[in-house]
Amino acid sequence: MSTSTSPEVVRAVEILRAGGLVAFPTETVYGLGADASNPSAVRKIFEVKRRPRGHPLIVHLPGRHLLHEWATSISDAAHALTEAFWPGPLTVLLRRTPRVPDEVTGGGDVVGLRVPAHPLALELLHAFGSGIAAPSANRFGKVSPTTAAHVRADLGDDVDLVLDGGPSDVGIESTIVDCTTDQPEVVRPGGITLEQLDEALGSPVDVWLGERDVAAPGTMAAHYAPDAAVIVVECDDDVQALAQTVRDDRTVAVLAPAAIEGLPATVVQLPPAGDAESYANVLYDRLREADRLGADLLVVVPPPAHGIGHAVRDRLRRAARGRS
Ligand code: TXA
Ligand code: MG
Repeated sequence: MSTSTSPEVVRAVEILRAGGLVAFPTETVYGLGADASNPSAVRKIFEVKRRPRGHPLIVHLPGRHLLHEWATSISDAAHALTEAFWPGPLTVLLRRTPRVPDEVTGGGDVVGLRVPAHPLALELLHAFGSGIAAPSANRFGKVSPTTAAHVRADLGDDVDLVLDGGPSDVGIESTIVDCTTDQPEVVRPGGITLEQLDEALGSPVDVWLGERDVAAPGTMAAHYAPDAAVIVVECDDDVQALAQTVRDDRTVAVLAPAAIEGLPATVVQLPPAGDAESYANVLYDRLREADRLGADLLVVVPPPAHGIGHAVRDRLRRAARGRS
């Protein structure tokens, strides 16, 4: 560790080396980290998250130079994408090397890898000098945390240390691209847009936005869900129409790009989410806000379907199916 490493990060590294859990900021969402080479440390993540075993975790690396230690058969597309977007909100799925434990991959042959862009995450990763396995630092199926306070509220003392790096810049998770086949395929839209991927690859990327198997929770139909029921509508008029039909004793909250005029006074308008980038940035905090207000129902007008708007709409779709 260099002498310039901050005392908090020195402590974080000690905890990781001892097999403990450290929550840390990334530019997408906060992660719940453990030493990716230590199976019993990785198992603790599943206990704390209450996440079913067998769901694979992303391994965070300090830099692209370590890619070969964790993955083999690295395709041209994987080279191009990691070169273009690391450090950044991109995860690539590749064949694992023997050093990746079964606990990380769910027993499969494929590992998810990413170099995050947050300065504190990078300081931690460089000081640790190896891979940190980290899912989002929330309980399974719930809303991802974008501040240290969210992590504390969700996980309390179950995590040994929470590094506070301020609110996450992007606000929703990384884009996941499966690079194990000839044709790379997006399996979760996120912080890197489809347009950006196409440009880096020089051809349109395939997109899989259906439901994958259970071993990929972020791609399951019901996920990212607040306690309030979520209904996604297309326009302000739909919100008006819906608001008229709701019983008086129900608390209804509304989330939209801009304020909506003329809603019944009983409807709570959350602060407007703005354009697609801003929407991604505030989305999870707004979902939490709906729960803080005790909303029974959250009616959402999503951002337009371009750029990062795709990823926001993906999360909203899953949040809407979160309670069945
Ligand atoms: O932005 C992010 O990706 C954040 C930050 C902390 O890096 N992490 C995150 O992790 O969202 P998590 O565990 O909440 O979601 C990771 C998703 C899983 O749901 C799964 O769909 C996919 O990554 N994944 C990871 N490894 C995989 C693998 N080996 N095969 C298939 N899918 C995998
Ligand atoms: Mg997650």
